[in-house]
Amino acid sequence: MSTLTELRRRFSAALGSLVDDTSGLLDLIRPAQDARFGDYQANCAMPLGKRMGQSPRDVAAAIAERLDVHDMCHAPEIAGPGFINLRLKDEWLAAELARRVQDERLGISPAARARTYVIDYSSPNVAKPMHVGHIRSTVIGDALARTLRFLGHRTITDNHLGDWGTQFGMIIYGWKHFRDEAAFRQQPVTELSRLYKLVHQLVDYYETRRAVPDWERQLTEREAALADQRALLSATDKSLRKKADKAVRRLESQLQETRDELAAAQRKIQAVEATPVLAQLAAQHPGIAEAVLQETARLHAGDRENLALWHEFLPRCRQDIQRIYDRLDIRFDCEYGESFYHDQLAGVVEEFRRRGLAQDSDGASCVFLDGFDAPLIIRKRDGAFLYATTDLATIEYRVKTWNPDAILYVVDHRQSEHFVKLFAAARRWGCEHVELQHISFGTVMGEDGKPYKTRSGDTVGLEGLLDEAVSKAYGVVCANDDAKPGGPELSDAERRHVAHVVGHAAIKYADLAQNRTSDYVFSFDKMVALEGNTATYMQYSYARTQSIFAKGQVDLESLRRAADRLALEAPAERTLGLKLLQFAEALQDAVADYRPSQLTSYLFDLAKSFSEFYHQCPVLTAEKETLRTSRLLLCDLTGRTIRQGLDLLGIHVVDKM
Ligand code: ARG
Repeated sequence: MSTLTELRRRFSAALGSLVDDTSGLLDLIRPAQDARFGDYQANCAMPLGKRMGQSPRDVAAAIAERLDVHDMCHAPEIAGPGFINLRLKDEWLAAELARRVQDERLGISPAARARTYVIDYSSPNVAKPMHVGHIRSTVIGDALARTLRFLGHRTITDNHLGDWGTQFGMIIYGWKHFRDEAAFRQQPVTELSRLYKLVHQLVDYYETRRAVPDWERQLTEREAALADQRALLSATDKSLRKKADKAVRRLESQLQETRDELAAAQRKIQAVEATPVLAQLAAQHPGIAEAVLQETARLHAGDRENLALWHEFLPRCRQDIQRIYDRLDIRFDCEYGESFYHDQLAGVVEEFRRRGLAQDSDGASCVFLDGFDAPLIIRKRDGAFLYATTDLATIEYRVKTWNPDAILYVVDHRQSEHFVKLFAAARRWGCEHVELQHISFGTVMGEDGKPYKTRSGDTVGLEGLLDEAVSKAYGVVCANDDAKPGGPELSDAERRHVAHVVGHAAIKYADLAQNRTSDYVFSFDKMVALEGNTATYMQYSYARTQSIFAKGQVDLESLRRAADRLALEAPAERTLGLKLLQFAEALQDAVADYRPSQLTSYLFDLAKSFSEFYHQCPVLTAEKETLRTSRLLLCDLTGRTIRQGLDLLGIHVVDKM
């Protein structure tokens, strides 16, 4: 149990004897921001004072008087307007730490109420280039799954592969018209992705050409509007001038946007028209966009030939993605892609209509939702089902199969609206008891401030990204090893192994350490740095604990049997001890709002406390044997906590680096 939970339990008893309704008050007990005021602080006397019409300081005193914490803490102190400051007793801290030393799970007991979670993450569209956003989903989803599982929850991970969409129509069309069989025999996925890209480019070419007149119309309109507003800039009326000035600036930036769009469109068109082979293909396939939709529709309708092609292509595409998962050590409990739900879609739409949850509009079946202009469309006019239809069928399947308490969707923020609507529709359908959560995340940006793109923008590109991280890590590992006072310690094979672990960890950690809802800038150099909030720093701290044991030839088994020797005397020991004890709280925070960054921040603080301790408190050369043992115990617990914490993030450690 975490210290915070225990303190809240004690406060709950004390508060209960003062007021009937203690809700919301216990959340106001938190770790202290400033160590000078103690270890924990309770701020509940202020709202309570208001509620009871008494001075908060008196209320604080009344709470303190009823609070039974004498075994854990020194006498509570009341400060300022009515803060209750608590300082844990050193002996209590030491005894708690000793218990953790002897516990495999570091004192983290499984949740009292185990829940069932289905986590939908990674979920790339196969046959289509996977992008960095899919890495982000993969890494965050995996970390949440590991953490929830460690906390004793039943956790089912499901990779909802996009294996049934238009991209297959494109590949099938490409196969039928542009295939190179020899190339396919040699490197099937490369050939399939060539076909995908080619067809995509041609479809895009025609769609862009169709859109250009609209952009041009918009350009003319905006130019005219701008001219009108510019004319008003010389008006005599001051407020009119001011308004015009604002409008001019707005219109100028809008105009620039239109110009950019148009320029981008023209570049796309040029790319095809200026390349004779492409131009010729485009001319030969004027109806390609419609034809692709037809190939997709034929696949969905069970057309023999298309289905056979799909069965041939799918496993190959999956293999390609699997290579990334293997490198990142990602496994799923199941991978029910969109195709798995195909047979259920008609039934879902039927039920929505029968129960009056969906209405026909312009030939399409639509679920109208409060607060949204556009409905959730579940069947198009031409009879095709949509992404949302599959998602509804998926919810039904998951609920029937696992009866989950929660379904988490780790998907980038651009799909927010889809999920808000989907969840609203699902709730109307009868899924009120399931917590449906979109675990949204921001965009990965390049150092140029634009969404990050790998050079070739496909899976090969993603592998190249991992390779690059490993090669950067290799540089850091070599430099660190070369700079060791006693000379290098690692063979080249060891350096390469360490670089492999460190490089992959860097990519994951850089994703996890960000507040997931913000965009972040992808920087190889920052993510492999030995200093700062990086996996490398955490791994380095872990390796440091292991090198102490190696140097001191410490037998860990017997060390742990002497756990009761753990004592906290120097301030750096106490700070480290307190941090170690807060691991349980960090895990609670990480799952409370599904934010792995809570865990990375904790680990960073822990590693910093350890570094402080390491510099101030000699371990192997401690003046007394008992002190040496006590400090070794702190090193052991630190190493294990870092290793466990990183493991929950899907990150490995090495003993030497
Ligand atoms: N395949 C989708 C994409 O790549 C993500 C799917 C997310 N999961 C879901 N159940 N909708 O954008």
